Amino acid sequence: MITKVKNIINKKNKSPLVCLTAYSKTISQILDKYCDIILVGDSLANVLYAMNNTHQISLNTMIRHAYSVRQGIKKSLCVVDMPKNTYNNIIDAKKNAKKILRKTKCHAVKIEDNGKNEKIIKSLVKLGIPVMGHIGYTPQFKKKFKIQGKTKLQKKELINRAIKIEQAGAFSIVLECIKTISAKEITKNIKIPTIGIGASKYCDGQILVTDDLLGLSGFKPKFVKQYGNIKKIIEKSVQHYKKEVINKNFPKKNNSY
Ligand code: KIV
Repeated sequence: MITKVKNIINKKNKSPLVCLTAYSKTISQILDKYCDIILVGDSLANVLYAMNNTHQISLNTMIRHAYSVRQGIKKSLCVVDMPKNTYNNIIDAKKNAKKILRKTKCHAVKIEDNGKNEKIIKSLVKLGIPVMGHIGYTPQFKKKFKIQGKTKLQKKELINRAIKIEQAGAFSIVLECIKTISAKEITKNIKIPTIGIGASKYCDGQILVTDDLLGLSGFKPKFVKQYGNIKKIIEKSVQHYKKEVINKNFPKKNNSY
């Protein structure tokens, strides 16, 4: 059975939420057993499509990947990032969020905070669409990577944004690259779960880009822990394959018709 939004909220102060990204069925069907939430992140722009940022990824590309990811899921809540410029106003946000959920059968959308889009969140929640917020370093709106919530003023601003997003009806908020002290305070000040990426252990859950965790992307900032080295496994396998092709050891009789 699919995890419900209310189960996610109920885990706050009880059990940390385990969240990861996926861009395809092959990965989501492995993650599903272990995750509360699987996010089809627009980070696929950088990771899969070799783009410099997430700004150009289209709604249809997100939908194609989200459809694939959803096919591998039996229990996790599947959240899809709304790409930049697909929620600039309430009419577009409603139309595009409905399209994402209708075409992919995923369960919720994620919206990055631009400092003033709580009305957009409210309008989607009113339609019955579960929304995950995203504050701190928001790649759709911030030009340069920078740790957020460093000063007292920034901390206060982030807490206020989190409260506004909670009041708009979001069921959780991603905190990206936020100073420990600020992430801790934000988490204390809202009733919905915070999900951290580079935002300390004081968040209610954690998320990483799966390709980073597996050592596949080669992206290794301080907040990433590499739990495996899939790159090495692929290299070894491909080397072996090459050797066998050259030596005429593959295909064998049992690989032939
Ligand atoms: O796009 C993404 O993968 C994300 C996560 C890093 C939270 O937004």
